[in-house]
Amino acid sequence: MVALIRETAELCQRRSKESHAIGFVPTMGNLHAGHASLLERALAEHTVVYFSIFVNPKQFGPSEDYGRYPRTLEQDLSVIRDCAARFPSSQVVVFAPTDPTEVFPPGDTQTIAVSGLSTILEGKSRPGHFEGVATVVYKLFNLVRPSTAYFGLKDYQQYLVISQMVKDLCLPVKIQGMPIIRETSGLALSSRNQYLSPDQRAASLVLSQTLRELTDLIGGSRDRISKARLLISDFLKDPNWNYLELRDAQTLAEDVDRSTHITILAVYQLGSTRLLDNVQVEVS
Ligand code: PAJ
Repeated sequence: MVALIRETAELCQRRSKESHAIGFVPTMGNLHAGHASLLERALAEHTVVYFSIFVNPKQFGPSEDYGRYPRTLEQDLSVIRDCAARFPSSQVVVFAPTDPTEVFPPGDTQTIAVSGLSTILEGKSRPGHFEGVATVVYKLFNLVRPSTAYFGLKDYQQYLVISQMVKDLCLPVKIQGMPIIRETSGLALSSRNQYLSPDQRAASLVLSQTLRELTDLIGGSRDRISKARLLISDFLKDPNWNYLELRDAQTLAEDVDRSTHITILAVYQLGSTRLLDNVQVEVS
């Protein structure tokens, strides 16, 4: 069963009557199989799942794609219904606010900032982005009060920012990271892939191919990381890379001498579209 709620007051009313532990999947809509994988896992683990669809204005910079971000509620509801149909004894409550003021009433004053993690890599390219993400997620957590919230590792830095926020503020929610869903070509699914022209789509494959090549080169051995870094500096001659960085997977520190898990995070830019991806590599 899928219920649609458009107003915050109604959400609060519904939530106050809930007796089950709640799974929560926050999204900005325009759903694809990556989002559906989060919902499916939430439904496998909970009888009641809340699913938000909200294009959050606070996480877009002034020259970013807030205005043209695809808003496809009817299509999204059918993705959710298809998924929910496989869990007939579960309920999905979709919260899709009619207007940003439902979430951020005019005159609101609070911002959540996770220092350090929010100002490097994606945060450096998009100042204020992670404050916008942390603020909306914190607010949604307060409204939904979930036991577990599901986040894709596709946005790995976002996953770390949210995990740190939960730890810092002692929020009673488990953050479950979920694997990246990819096309067979290797391209990670993203709502922004549809901005790509056919030529850009072909060019975009360099992103996942490069991450795979670096993973293969490292082959689980810390000793090969310096070789990988050399190769990265060579790749970076292609100006389409916004960044391509090898970091410690827990802290995102550059020093990986003692790391057991590393991550390679990248943004490859085609026209105005920034394609984000990463891989996780265990090393010893
Ligand atoms: P959105 O980009 O809609 O993504 C919603 C969730 O789906 C995020 O946790 C994201 O990591 C996950 N996701 C996206 N593509 C995926 C893929 N290919 N495989 C697996 N998971 C994938 O991320 C946001 O929205 C927003 O920042 C949000 C957290 C909702 C706050 O506004």
